[in-house]
Amino acid sequence: MADHAAASARPHDSAHLHVSGTARYCDDEAESADMLHLAFGQSTQAHARLVAMDLSAVRAAPGVVAVYTAADIPGANDVSPVADDDPLLADGTVLFFGQPLFLVAATSQRAARQAARLGKVACDPLPACLTIAEAQAAQSLLEPTQRMAQGDARTALQTAPHRVSGQFDMGGQDHFYLEGQIALARPGEDGQVHVLSSTQHPSEVQHLVAHLLDVPSADVTVEVRRMGGAFGGKETQAALFAAAAALVATKTGRPAKFRCDRDDDMVMTGKRHDFRVRYDVGFDDAGRVRGLSLLLSARCGATFDLSAGINDRAMFHADNCYFLPDVEILSERLKTNTVSNTAFRGFGGPQGMLAIEWVMDHIAQALGRDPLDVRLANAYGPGRDVTPYGMTVEDNIAPQIMARLRHDARYDARRAEIAAFNARNPVLKKGIALTPVKFGISFTTTHLNQAGALVHVYADGSIQINHGGTEMGQGLYIKVAQVVADVFAVPVGQVRITATRTDKVPNTSATAASSGADLNGMAAHHAAMAIRDRLTAFAARTFACDEAAVRFTPDGIVAGDVALSFAALCRKAYLGRVQLSATGFYATPDIAYDRAAHKGRPFYYFAYGAAVSEVVIDTLTGEHRVLAVDILHDVGRSLNPAIDLGQIEGAFLQGQGWLTTEELVFDDKGRLLTHSPATYKIPTASDRPRHFSIALWDGENLKPTIHRSKAVGEPPFMLANSVLMALVQAVAATAPDRRTMPALDAPATPECILRAIAGHCGRLEGA
Ligand code: MTE
Ligand code: MOS
Repeated sequence: MADHAAASARPHDSAHLHVSGTARYCDDEAESADMLHLAFGQSTQAHARLVAMDLSAVRAAPGVVAVYTAADIPGANDVSPVADDDPLLADGTVLFFGQPLFLVAATSQRAARQAARLGKVACDPLPACLTIAEAQAAQSLLEPTQRMAQGDARTALQTAPHRVSGQFDMGGQDHFYLEGQIALARPGEDGQVHVLSSTQHPSEVQHLVAHLLDVPSADVTVEVRRMGGAFGGKETQAALFAAAAALVATKTGRPAKFRCDRDDDMVMTGKRHDFRVRYDVGFDDAGRVRGLSLLLSARCGATFDLSAGINDRAMFHADNCYFLPDVEILSERLKTNTVSNTAFRGFGGPQGMLAIEWVMDHIAQALGRDPLDVRLANAYGPGRDVTPYGMTVEDNIAPQIMARLRHDARYDARRAEIAAFNARNPVLKKGIALTPVKFGISFTTTHLNQAGALVHVYADGSIQINHGGTEMGQGLYIKVAQVVADVFAVPVGQVRITATRTDKVPNTSATAASSGADLNGMAAHHAAMAIRDRLTAFAARTFACDEAAVRFTPDGIVAGDVALSFAALCRKAYLGRVQLSATGFYATPDIAYDRAAHKGRPFYYFAYGAAVSEVVIDTLTGEHRVLAVDILHDVGRSLNPAIDLGQIEGAFLQGQGWLTTEELVFDDKGRLLTHSPATYKIPTASDRPRHFSIALWDGENLKPTIHRSKAVGEPPFMLANSVLMALVQAVAATAPDRRTMPALDAPATPECILRAIAGHCGRLEGA
């Protein structure tokens, strides 16, 4: 089969629209004169019993058309993904600061927002549990603490030649998608509703809206052409806004739009889980782990959302690329009176993976060794290849990637140069770190690993495709279009990609877990192949040749002695009454997982990578700079190297932001203080390292994925662990002879770095 289209670097299908401002997002839809705009009245308590709401002033405010509370919801008051525990509007109890209490529909967004502030809400405050420490003290848990184990960690710890223990914290992260949460609902005839939603999960929005309105799913259509970024933040969180818009549209018979204000969005929607890690590790003289006991404690917020899966994924990645023969991983899912935390690129993987990277550095510090040598000593390898969840790592290329990058990025020479620099410089200290990534690909909830597609070939030879995946900027649509174009050997421009809609492909999974191209690419491939097979049979019949003599080439169709264009064949096939439309379906094979035991084969394969980061810190101010980054990343046989390089670069910087500048601060009432870009610092162009080199590993997926490619969306996020570990090295350089681990929590803000320096070398205490 021709592989040129599918393997070539091509611009994003909407790049020309993005840069000219003509790509249409939900908010670009024309607003009819009767359109209503929505806002929530929000709680000003973290935990309380709702006694009464006096909304008379809200109703009387200018422009207000309707005000709704939980009592006005015809069906289920729930917008949650799994546990039926996320009310659209609070009922009885308030669970977090900023929670939606009532819904205002007005003639303008401004009128709706102003009116929403006029509600008089009477509450009896209840004791609130806000932080990880408070929740641990109260043993406030969403579900029982989960245990994943292999071997006998306790005995191995007791008999290991060396043993260290420690604790560190990593913060959460706001998604900061450029397009905020938004939905637009239009009432249809006979109780139907059409919802434009900026969602990664149209099917779930459809299902929740139907449930909320007490109508069949068949009466609800959800559509999304593109999101202006999502990063996991629109996997479940979009439902809140879509449900509100659908409720108002069906109640009033008018179109209703909910465009959430940025500050409200940051307060009201879930974020990455912040974690506290505790570990106790035993190891030998080479730094090889003998026994490890790890406790991962996560702030989940007030409700389940996706916390069970996210924390499972943290456990799954607490081995990263390392063999842990005797290990016990405990995962505490803490319930707090803060907004329910949710999916964010990596889905718990980054937190679990950072934990073990930290442990590797602590071992290296204790032994006075190069952390890279400790990492390599612990790498999975022959006879040391079973993960804590009992899956054998069959595709392990981490050691090769690390070795190649070590060489290509001149790691050893630079480490020596940095040591010399640090010896000369009392104020500035540099650090360098090389960390690997092994990320499991598949939804760990096995049934989600399915996808559908719909391909139409028109009689003029042009092609329309549709599939269950959503476009959030990651380039899924162009990749799937390339796959389909390839099947027919036509230019990609001949393939029109259409908006994701629940009435075209039903019962889809969220575009998440980086599996969009794996799943939808394969489903679309199956659909296109079905049509191609029909065209082949038709051509063989028509031109009296063997099917084997029918070939689709970039120059057109060859059928025995006859040559004709693809368009001409399609025309003939239409006249010959051949069906030129097909659906396709794909379910990932060979995966199974026993969640009760935390054992099985949850992943189809692993994606790998490694990064070297070099940083410098100013020991007087605590500021830092990421000076140079070299990445070698495995995407199998890339479906589109241009898109993949963009994903790697963007993911790395997003990870860098998580670990360095993005700080979520809640006050003691549970109010988020950092709810705008004025106080919440995402990386800017100037934070991009000046030297930033990204190379793709030359290899293919061992598994028969679409064109032997690998998923790319999330794995490179975790390459940024190298930034934090380089910062640890820089802090360690302030007292180079100490064998202790610097206490540098993430994000490594200037305050945090100064505190770590003080703790490490005692300088601020006057040493
Ligand atoms: N890239 C862009 N530009 N915008 C996004 O919102 N989301 C990430 C990643 N890359 C995201 C992105 C996340 S969290 C996931 S799971 C994947 O894209 C989802 O898309 P895929 O499965 O098609 O890779
Ligand atoms: Mo991505 S966190 O799986 O949406």
